[in-house]
Amino acid sequence: MYHLGMALVEVNSVWKSYPRWTGLRNEPQHVVQDVSFAIEPGETLGLVGESGSGKTTLARMILGLVEPSRGSVRVDGTDVASASASELRRLRRQMQPVFQDPYAALNPRMNVLDIVTEPLIIHRREVGIKTDRATLRAKAIEFLSEVGLDDSVLARHPHEFSGGQRQRINIARALALRPKLLILDEPVSALDVSVGAQVVNLLRRLQREHGLTYLFISHSMPLVRYLSTRIAVMGRGRLVELGEAVDLCANPSQAYTRQLIEATPELPASVA
Ligand SMILES: Nc1ncnc2c1ncn2[C@@H]1O[C@H](COP(=O)(O)OP(=O)(O)O)[C@@H](O)[C@H]1O
Ligand SMILES: [Mg+2]
Repeated sequence: MYHLGMALVEVNSVWKSYPRWTGLRNEPQHVVQDVSFAIEPGETLGLVGESGSGKTTLARMILGLVEPSRGSVRVDGTDVASASASELRRLRRQMQPVFQDPYAALNPRMNVLDIVTEPLIIHRREVGIKTDRATLRAKAIEFLSEVGLDDSVLARHPHEFSGGQRQRINIARALALRPKLLILDEPVSALDVSVGAQVVNLLRRLQREHGLTYLFISHSMPLVRYLSTRIAVMGRGRLVELGEAVDLCANPSQAYTRQLIEATPELPASVA
């Protein structure tokens, strides 16, 4: 099912190459090669592949943090690489990342109140919000309650939390601008399995409640299968195959996909 012009994200024949010194000369290393896919509003597209297959590079190109060497990425109809400053600000509000390392993403000197409301302050004009203390505090409590935290965390700092709590704080911050799309790059890979399972189920609930669209990136096929509407499989920079999650897992067309399915253990009962 592909409706031309309706996709939230369109990745069109995208390449990313870095020069690599071979000992004799610099030769381009193609870390993403001719990848195309679309993400439809409301779906979860799973992006799965072994380490080094180009998943994070692809995510960073969608976010506008890395420029494609060739090809283009459109988000909500706007070409990310050639977007103007004001278009980029609009895209920032619609598309938020959540990365693997929940600690690295949080400023250690800020308390939780400041961390989760900072996006509102940065985008206050476009969002049209007052930024007095009482308003920000109420907003922070609202965002935190959505991720299962209460107002006792507001004055605390990132080092005081466990990995799972930190990732909840990251998610609360990512939701502050009411984005349409979350780019989730291995969001539970650094967490214990049972803690990761809770965060995964939180992501499912938030998606339902807010009608969010997800790009969910993981090296774990069972996790991707649990969350995804469709699955895109990456191997050595290329899109190996893409299909409906159920069909692709039941009937993978590529040996590489079959290996990914067989390589990773089943999910613990706490998830499924
Ligand atoms: N800035 C960079 N310069 C050179 N090589 C890079 C850079 N970023 C990523 N790579 C290389 O691109 C390949 C894909 O990396 P990455 O996108 O992080 O894969 P994944 O997220 O699937 O593990 C790796 O071989 C990595 O070393
Ligand atoms: Mg990665």
